[in-house]
Amino acid sequence: AAGASADEFVPDMAKRNTMNLLLAGSTGAVALSVLYPFSYFFVPKSSGNAGAGTVAKDALGNNIKKKEYLDSHLAGSRELVQGLRGDATYLIVTDDKSDLEYFALNAVCTHLGCVVPWNKAENKFKCPCHGSQYSPTGAVVRGPAPLPLALEHVEFDEADNVLLKSWKEEDFRTGEAPWWN
Ligand code: FES
Repeated sequence: AAGASADEFVPDMAKRNTMNLLLAGSTGAVALSVLYPFSYFFVPKSSGNAGAGTVAKDALGNNIKKKEYLDSHLAGSRELVQGLRGDATYLIVTDDKSDLEYFALNAVCTHLGCVVPWNKAENKFKCPCHGSQYSPTGAVVRGPAPLPLALEHVEFDEADNVLLKSWKEEDFRTGEAPWWN
């Protein structure tokens, strides 16, 4: 019985600590907004409408950190992480290996929903289910897929976590409005 009550105590404390953090955070935000009333001019436009985003997670559910990720991945690598709504999502390392691409790709095939593997040797995504192919940026190069892979914004928080946010702007591959919203 003593063990059970200790177990109950821990989540309660965790909740209190979370509340304290939230309170400290909002107090800080209020102080900032009083001291720096014009700071919003410096906030990038995209963060205004994209919300807080989701921290990208690896297969074990750990947060993905930008520096660690870049240190352990090759230029041009496209590897799956858990993205928005837990969907399989490709993070892309830039060709000069200096950074992550500003976009990630939802790996769900737009034909019937299989997860599309990246084929490094052929430099394209190839769906095993019915043969659709996508370019390195997720544009359709062969059907039956009717639409490009969905885009997500890639950003970073102050703890170096990789943040994924919904992409509401024009699809740069087609010049059209995003089909996935
Ligand atoms: Fe990918 Fe059909 S689900 S080609």
